[in-house]
Amino acid sequence: MKRIAVLASGRGSNFQAIIDRIEDGNLPAQCAGLVTDNPQAYAITRAKRAEIPVFVVDYSRYADKGEYEAALLEAMDQCNADLFILAGYMRILGRGIVSHFKGRMINIHPALLPSFAGLHAQRQAIDYGVKYSGCTVHFVDEGMDTGPIIIQRPVPVCDGDDGDSLAARILIEEHIALPEAVKLFCEERLMVCGRTVRILPP
Ligand code: GAR
Repeated sequence: MKRIAVLASGRGSNFQAIIDRIEDGNLPAQCAGLVTDNPQAYAITRAKRAEIPVFVVDYSRYADKGEYEAALLEAMDQCNADLFILAGYMRILGRGIVSHFKGRMINIHPALLPSFAGLHAQRQAIDYGVKYSGCTVHFVDEGMDTGPIIIQRPVPVCDGDDGDSLAARILIEEHIALPEAVKLFCEERLMVCGRTVRILPP
């Protein structure tokens, strides 16, 4: 069985979706750790409830990004995971970490990439006036939200939506897309060909 680890900075509802799929038998993986940069993250409570080891690498305790990322790398290595999942991890990872985990790190983003990369993607979609947005799970590369796309799920933008109401509708789809992508990885059904991710049959 594959070992997975999750990086999250806050609420951790996507992390919870993964825990739930493991617990209900629909995700054949062992969660080896939660790594967080935020000692207040609610994701920590979720991890403890599920008896998942917690690694807090408190960003505010390091002199600079280099020192922080050295500690982060150490925590990630301790997880000894096959796959690292950025599930609401709200910092940009340095090139060193990205290349160290290339091909075994994925991210969930609350928009249909390549539209609306970066922060506040749901509000960006509202401000732009698109009729559909959604979520994307992709491999992490050196760019910001630019890696090969594994799964996307579209969501309509409704009249009267604001960033929060759209975010809530997108989140429902995130909780489906992320465990599904993790499952495909764990079943070794993802093949990256350039920018394209092929999904192999079971
Ligand atoms: C999710 O909507 C995720 O897509 C987003 O943060 C939220 C975390 O929620 N991530 C990003 O915006 C990354 N650029 P959660 O902590 O409840 O899973």
